[in-house]
Amino acid sequence: MRKTKTDPSTDRHIRRAAHILRRGGLVAFPTETVYGLGANAFDEKAVCRVFEVKKRPAFDPLIVHVASAAQARSLWLATPPLAEALMKKFWPGPLSIVLPKDPRVPDVVTAGLPTVAVRMPDHRAALAMIRAAGVPVAAPSANLFGYTSPTAAASVAEDLGGRIDAILDGGPARVGVESTVVKIEGGRMFLLRPGGITVEAIEEATGKKVFRPRAGKAKESPGQLKSHYAPHAPLIMASDPAAFVRRLRALEKGRGRPARVAAITLSSLSPRRDLYQAAARLFQVMRKLDKMDPDAIVAGPFPAQGIGRAIADRLEKASGGKRGWKSFFSTVNRRKKEKER
Ligand code: TXA
Ligand code: MG
Repeated sequence: MRKTKTDPSTDRHIRRAAHILRRGGLVAFPTETVYGLGANAFDEKAVCRVFEVKKRPAFDPLIVHVASAAQARSLWLATPPLAEALMKKFWPGPLSIVLPKDPRVPDVVTAGLPTVAVRMPDHRAALAMIRAAGVPVAAPSANLFGYTSPTAAASVAEDLGGRIDAILDGGPARVGVESTVVKIEGGRMFLLRPGGITVEAIEEATGKKVFRPRAGKAKESPGQLKSHYAPHAPLIMASDPAAFVRRLRALEKGRGRPARVAAITLSSLSPRRDLYQAAARLFQVMRKLDKMDPDAIVAGPFPAQGIGRAIADRLEKASGGKRGWKSFFSTVNRRKKEKER
């Protein structure tokens, strides 16, 4: 396989994608959050190929995508009332629910964990494909591991083209950040990853609190590594990117080539300062800025509420903890010198 064709998500191409999945192949498909790289969840060999193609470490479990609540129930050992309530309120939609797995779910899918994350995507083509395949579809985001997630078919082709069997194009992803991952344990909900469904909405719908995982359980969601979603250019967090760049220019006067710096703020992502629009644009903007090969991307804070929590989380992970002047000068000067050589 040399080139991967990108197909429109017409009924014919959806049927073909389903056929590829049943045969053990890999299909990138659109969802409302980000594009997924799908494999038949019951086909261990196909699931192993997902890890290979993405260069994803084997300890990071996959989310299984379903087309109905009944299909979700068949993947869990039991479905508590709280899970029923969440499914009823938020599915199809960007919420992944983690519960003890049925033995039918292969260990490769869950990276050996006794639990499995399941979600029903809110996207016509994704649902039609899963239904036509007749099997649940295990799918991580369709990017190279650690790099910025793909919210357009072209981004998938950039990262994985030539290494997978098909790409279904469903247009730009509507939500733009991944699903919220919630684990249910002992009648309580724990937030493993902020995402497209807000904590506030979950608390309101269930009348129950969403807890942060306890400190000792930081590895609870193995995908939550310190550096993730990262562009190639170093991403540095600053409390006020505009002020940061002004001060930088003053410091740089008469000291050779000024650093090429791009900024990500709420107003740069959404001129009308709408957090949902900002989330929808975040990953595309990160990829676009990265292509311009700046010395650094400086990103500002986002409100830790609503969908802002997911944006802040992705930027923090993309920065790998780099923040402020010290990080800036140590990383950027090193890179500038490398480039001048
Ligand atoms: O919106 C999304 O969730 C997208 C689209 C394609 O559906 N998928 C996605 O998958 O973001 P991925 O693989 O990039 O992220 C899955 C996250 C990881 O952080 C992983 O650690 C966590 O979900 N996860 C999966 N199964 C888990 C489990 N059994 N327990 C705890 N965390 C789990
Ligand atoms: Mg991912």
